[in-house]
Amino acid sequence: MCGIFAYTGKKQAGVTLLDGLTSLEYRGYDSAGIFLPERGGIRAVGAVGNLKKKIPTDFEGHSGIAHLRWATHGEPTEDNAHPHRDCTSDVWVVHNGIIENWKELKRDLESRGHVFLSETDTEVMAHLVEQELSDGKDFESAARAALGRIRGTYGMAIQSRAEPDVIVGARMGAPVVLGLGDGENFIASDPSPILKHTRTVLFLEDGEMAVIRPNSYKIFKLGGDTVERAAQEVDWSPEEAQKGGYEHFMLKEIMEGPEVIKNTLRGRLMFEEGMAKLGGLESVKDELAKIERIIIVGCGTAYYAGLVGEYMLEEHAGIPVEVELGSEFRYRKPVLNQKTMLLAISQSGETADTLEAIREGKRKGAITVGIVNTVGSTIARETDAGVYNHAGPEIGVASTKALVSQITALALLTLFLGRQRKMSDSDAEEIISQLSLLPEKVQKILDNKAAIEAMAAKYSDSRDFLYIGRKYNYPIAFEGALKLKEISYIHAEGCGAGEMKHGPLAMIDEKFPTMAIAPSDTVYEKLASNIQEIRARRGPVVAVATEGNDDILSYTKDVIYVPETIEMLQPILSVVPLQLFAYYLAHAKGFNVDRPRNLAKSVTVE
Ligand code: M6R
Repeated sequence: MCGIFAYTGKKQAGVTLLDGLTSLEYRGYDSAGIFLPERGGIRAVGAVGNLKKKIPTDFEGHSGIAHLRWATHGEPTEDNAHPHRDCTSDVWVVHNGIIENWKELKRDLESRGHVFLSETDTEVMAHLVEQELSDGKDFESAARAALGRIRGTYGMAIQSRAEPDVIVGARMGAPVVLGLGDGENFIASDPSPILKHTRTVLFLEDGEMAVIRPNSYKIFKLGGDTVERAAQEVDWSPEEAQKGGYEHFMLKEIMEGPEVIKNTLRGRLMFEEGMAKLGGLESVKDELAKIERIIIVGCGTAYYAGLVGEYMLEEHAGIPVEVELGSEFRYRKPVLNQKTMLLAISQSGETADTLEAIREGKRKGAITVGIVNTVGSTIARETDAGVYNHAGPEIGVASTKALVSQITALALLTLFLGRQRKMSDSDAEEIISQLSLLPEKVQKILDNKAAIEAMAAKYSDSRDFLYIGRKYNYPIAFEGALKLKEISYIHAEGCGAGEMKHGPLAMIDEKFPTMAIAPSDTVYEKLASNIQEIRARRGPVVAVATEGNDDILSYTKDVIYVPETIEMLQPILSVVPLQLFAYYLAHAKGFNVDRPRNLAKSVTVE
């Protein structure tokens, strides 16, 4: 999730663009860059502050494009920072998204003599426009023709020195909004950088491009037809705009689930071959084919993702797996060798305990691999190989979309390692087809959020909560409890449902509710018996169950239904309602959901 911002008007463009980038900083902070036609491109690694130091405040330009990068293709270096340019440095592009066919386009452009300066997918767009301009088109037509050649997702702004007042914007799968001012117009990823200047905005839809000048704007379908759409007035504060109109980042991030899954899967499912394409593992694939054991390390939510991975990898790839808390692993004397893969899972890539576990694994000769969201983070750099999540920055302290992405990435890894071993064609085919159906299934759960909110309101006075699950949903019981306790400060415990009779059942009475994760899987009957035991002690039960399961209603009327999928992917569908439940419950209690007390987003100390 990068951020784009473009301006054409009468104000000083450098200052206006830098100010706008500051409002967009929540979208990415790997690098920042700006293009001012009279001055050229200026880029800096890190946050906007580093870019500011490079731009003179007295500079008088009146248009430009700017970008904040959250790295996907290529490390967070200055060369890879946006804007990207063509061979002549006349055409510049800022882009949020991924151009899927960039490699073939790059090959074609190189064969025509274009010289590339970065490792990014975005740079092809600048060269495509350059190519079209050299065929005699004007800037607007050249941009349209170039847009017609790319496939993938984009929110984009393009500018050419030849017509410095004109900026072309385009949208396909990544948000783009126009800001319409008096003698000035804007293009941005969301309204937050625009609101200081104008409250009149117009949201582009997929497959549309816009052409803005200081005193006019036009919108077209990529095919060329003009689009007539009324602008709207927004009364959001800049902070509300950053949250996409949601009250909290946490809710916004939960709602991003379908998009996050698509981004984690993008370009990685090989339907024909029944395989996962994981470029980040290419360098160690021969060693991975020989590993005999996997140890997964992580902390908090990432640790619970690891536990789900244990079930997946053992069942479908046939490799023995252990899962360790980073904080424990580093103080044991783990037995590792070259046939061990040590897999670190971390959203931030900076968690101290997980990082130290990886360092210990390296010292002992293990192959170290990361499932990491933050490109270029320490864990990403120090591991031998890895799989990036591409989930976009997670701002809420409670990890939500990262978990959804981590489990998705673990499924891809299971496919990859399983196919190196004995996973059958039909098993692979089923995993791939079910993975590709996940986004719409998660969307269905999200569409039901009002019912989950009502359920949370009903239980908001609870002092305790027990979460139970079995098999693949055993870790989800712990994750559900963690979400509730960290943002609502309610005492919540996760428990393997089979363990209830070994102690926790003693706590149950009419004031001690249980969240039972009870999808229609191979352990449903057993879980139903556990629910019965709780009900016999008058414990209230909320159940997460599979659509169409009426049997569950004989135990409890408080049911949250979720769609069905294969057992190994069910945790993704089970966890989303638990995230929403925790969110709404904490919200009902009036707590600061995004910044729970005593906690930090990234735990970089022991
Ligand atoms: O950045 P990481 O994934 O390594 O962070 C691990 C945990 O600190 C993190 O998941 C934490 O437990 C969250 N606050 C849970 O919501």
